[in-house]
Amino acid sequence: MGNLRIGIPSKGRLAVQSEELLNLAGFKFRRQDRSLFAKVRDAKIEITFLRSDDIPVLCDEGAIDLGVTGSDLVEEAGGDVLTRMKLGVGKCRLALCVAEDSPITSASDLKSLRIATSFPNVTQNYLGEKGVQAHLVKLTGSVEVMISLGVADAIVDLVETGSTLVANRLRVIAEIGEHETVLIQNQKQDEPELADQVVRRLEGVIIARSYSLLEYNIPREKLSAAEEITPGFNSPTVSALEDDNWCAVRVMVKRKKIIAAMEALESLGAAAILETKIANCRL
Ligand code: PRP
Repeated sequence: MGNLRIGIPSKGRLAVQSEELLNLAGFKFRRQDRSLFAKVRDAKIEITFLRSDDIPVLCDEGAIDLGVTGSDLVEEAGGDVLTRMKLGVGKCRLALCVAEDSPITSASDLKSLRIATSFPNVTQNYLGEKGVQAHLVKLTGSVEVMISLGVADAIVDLVETGSTLVANRLRVIAEIGEHETVLIQNQKQDEPELADQVVRRLEGVIIARSYSLLEYNIPREKLSAAEEITPGFNSPTVSALEDDNWCAVRVMVKRKKIIAAMEALESLGAAAILETKIANCRL
């Protein structure tokens, strides 16, 4: 059995997030200076540090077995890789944008106009579906300034918080896709068991990150109403208490919903409501 090769971004936010996720999943490695490779301790796994936009191509070509990159870049590369899982980070939208004061309101207004983007393939496919022929200005960065530079009438770019749009006085006229960081896999996998182990471990960390463990006591007569508020990942664990009229519940709740769930449970008559963060899990 050979080594499993995982490609991760070499710099930027995605690089930090990928290293952190793999470390939390128990894959420990240290990158020496600007080295392109690192060996994972106690595992037949090698990490390769690459440009994010090369990762889909190199995974498709079989140079790496698994890769961490943006789903936007996977779509733009257009190759035949398998998306194994979403990593719950780097959520953004790919959007068609124009100047705030532009008369353009939809893609169909862009006929014969210029669109600057670093996503020419995705943009071309989108325009093709709309039956619009436009001139694409293909760039690798700083797309957001191209309208004010007079290079383009519209841009197709990623929007995360929207602050780049505000800073450049732009507005969205259409959303082309929703994206996030994903784990991709080469279709002809030589090390399927090892790849599956990486996926299982990452899943444990990602589910743990998005859920909390909630514990509370509830009068038995209110249990079914409480279970509607907190249905759990599979189902809640219910235990008896000394007082027969009460029971204790342990349940996983999406972190985003935890405050609302605690308030609803309190209103229902629950007591001793405790939230605990989960470090890792296998479900
Ligand atoms: C991306 C994208 C936008 C910006 C959007 O650029 O190209 O410019 O983020 O984020 P916001 O909505 O939170 O402002 P990134 O910082 O990844 O660098 P890039 O220009 O090299 O693509």
